[in-house]
Amino acid sequence: MASLSNARSPFFLILSFAVLLLHSCYADPDPLQDFCVADLKAQNISVNGFTCKPSSTVTSDDFFFAGLAKEGDTGNIFGLNVSSGDVLSFPGLNTLGLSMNRVDLAPGGINPPHSHPRATELVFVIEGRVLAGFVTTSNVLFSKVLNVGESFVIPKGLIHFQFNVGVGKALLITAFDSQLPGVEIIPVALFASSPSIPNQVLAKAFQVDEQIVKDIKSKFGSS
Ligand code: GLV
Ligand code: MN
Repeated sequence: MASLSNARSPFFLILSFAVLLLHSCYADPDPLQDFCVADLKAQNISVNGFTCKPSSTVTSDDFFFAGLAKEGDTGNIFGLNVSSGDVLSFPGLNTLGLSMNRVDLAPGGINPPHSHPRATELVFVIEGRVLAGFVTTSNVLFSKVLNVGESFVIPKGLIHFQFNVGVGKALLITAFDSQLPGVEIIPVALFASSPSIPNQVLAKAFQVDEQIVKDIKSKFGSS
């Protein structure tokens, strides 16, 4: 019988593979200490996250965040405000593997198609009525109209949106299994990147005239 301590044994190889597979299913890695309040000003940011503040300087305030308490200003082209509660605004989240946003939508407002490369998202409706949806890598749309108290889950990395289909404003809380989910807002990434994606590329990709691309770019203050 092959020895379990033999690193080349089939058992060991299968076990290593299973552990690797399991590990790749995790979101952020588990912490190795009670807490690690981020020192966002530290010069030596070389770990997978942020350097910890010395625990002797940590206070209750480091675990408190009021940034989602106030309604955001939705006076913009999307009728949207996203208040972010990630590790950059709430350093106490560092290494804890989670974060949340407050999403305010004016009547008819939209949180345009976007994706979070590092997180699964849970949408919870506090006020109003929204259409929430995501598209899979097979280009299948899953969507649902959500009312107060209802939730919808957006699998990690998939393109998704929320659209206010109610009569008044809408308020959502979105939770993430990452301290820093990251976001790519599709229209902004494509039409307002820096430097700009060449008009020819976008015209060909969307099968439209370059003038249409220029028009869209101008809506985002880009050229
Ligand atoms: C909603 O989709 C959000 O990213 O907060
Ligand atoms: Mn999102």
